[in-house]
Amino acid sequence: MSYRYIGNKTRLLPILLDSFKTVVKDGATVADIMCGTAAVSEALRTAGYRVIASDMMTFAAHHARVRLLLSEKPEFTGTGLGRYAGVLAHLNQLKPQNGVFHKEYSPDGVPENGSDPRKYFSGENAGRIDAITAQLNQWQQAGALSETENSLLRHDLVLASNRVANIAGTYGHHRSKWGTSALASLELRPTTLLNGHRTDHIVHQGPAETVAPLIEADLCYIDPPYMKRQYAANYHIIETIARGDSPEAVGVSGLRPWRDQYSDFCSKVKIRDAFRMIFNLAQCDQFMISYSEDGLLTEEQLMELFSEVGTVSLQKIPFTRFRSNAGGQGGTVIEYLFHIKR
Ligand SMILES: C[S@@+](CC[C@H](N)C(=O)[O-])C[C@H]1O[C@@H](n2cnc3c(N)ncnc32)[C@H](O)[C@@H]1O
Repeated sequence: MSYRYIGNKTRLLPILLDSFKTVVKDGATVADIMCGTAAVSEALRTAGYRVIASDMMTFAAHHARVRLLLSEKPEFTGTGLGRYAGVLAHLNQLKPQNGVFHKEYSPDGVPENGSDPRKYFSGENAGRIDAITAQLNQWQQAGALSETENSLLRHDLVLASNRVANIAGTYGHHRSKWGTSALASLELRPTTLLNGHRTDHIVHQGPAETVAPLIEADLCYIDPPYMKRQYAANYHIIETIARGDSPEAVGVSGLRPWRDQYSDFCSKVKIRDAFRMIFNLAQCDQFMISYSEDGLLTEEQLMELFSEVGTVSLQKIPFTRFRSNAGGQGGTVIEYLFHIKR
C-alpha cells in the first residue's frame, strides 16, 4: 500500500521491529496508539505480535481494520453482488453523482460558501466518489455490510482517491494546475490481504488520551505528530471519504470542521500533559516513542519529560526528510526512538 502520509514509518519498519524485539517476547501484545496508515501495526502482526491499534482519525481506523483483522476476502453476502471482485466491479461502474465532492472539491461545482471552485478532483472523479459513497452509505444503513467489509471498501476508496487527488503532498491545498495522475480515472483496486497471520487484534478510534485506559499491553508504541500542523486539517478530505458524511466545506480550501479532532500533540503548551495522560492511564510498563529532530520539543525536553515515568534510553536514526512535490527542505534529519521502562 503506497501512501504519502506525513510521518509514516514504512521506511523505518526494519529498525523499529529490531528495537521492539529487544524489549518484548515473541507473541507479546504491542499497542500502536497513533497508527496512521497502520504500517507499523501490520509489521507487528506479520512479526507475530498481538496488536492493539488506534488513532483519532476515521480513515486510520479503516486502514487498521483492513491490515489487522482480515486474512481472506470477506463474503459480502449482504450486497447480493457476489464476492469482493463483484462488489468492486459494481462500484467502479456507477454513474457519477452531483454530491458534496462534485460541488465542493471539483471545478465543475460551485462551493456553498462562495469560494472559487476547488480543484482537488476532476469533475468526473469527484462525481464518482459521490456515487460510490452514496452506495456504501446505503449498504451500511441497510445493515448489508459487516464492520470489516465497510472498512475494506472505504479503505479502497481512500487509496483510489489518493491516486487521483490534485495535491502536492497533503490536502491542505489543491494544486492550481492539473497533474497527470489527477486526470486519470478513479478506480477501486482490490487490496491484497495478509494471509496466514493471527487476527486476534483490536482496533480503537479516538484520542490516545481517551483510549489509554483500554490499553493493556507489554509495550506501547507512540508515534505522535511532531509539528504544529494538524493531521485533521492536512487530511480533511480523506476523513470525509472515510466517514461518508457531507460536512460544511470551510474557507478557500474547503476544510471540514475538524476541531473535534484537534490534537494536543501539535501544541507546545499542551503536549506534555497529553503524554502524561497516556503514561498514567495505560496499563503498560514499557513505551517506545518516535519523534523527529525537527519536532516541537527538543531531545533534552523529551528526556526530561520521559524521565518522570522511568528509565529512558534513546536511539538516533538518520532519516530522509518528508518532501512534498512542491519542494520542501529535503536532506537528512535525525529520527529519535525513545524507550521508557517504568
Ligand atoms: C506520525 S503519524 C503516525 C504515522 C504511522 N506510524 C504510520 O506509519 O503511518 C501521527 C498520527 O497521530 C494521530 N494523532 C494525532 N494526535 C492524536 C491523538 N491525540 N490521539 C490519537 N491519535 C493522534 C494522527 O492522526 C496521525 O495519524
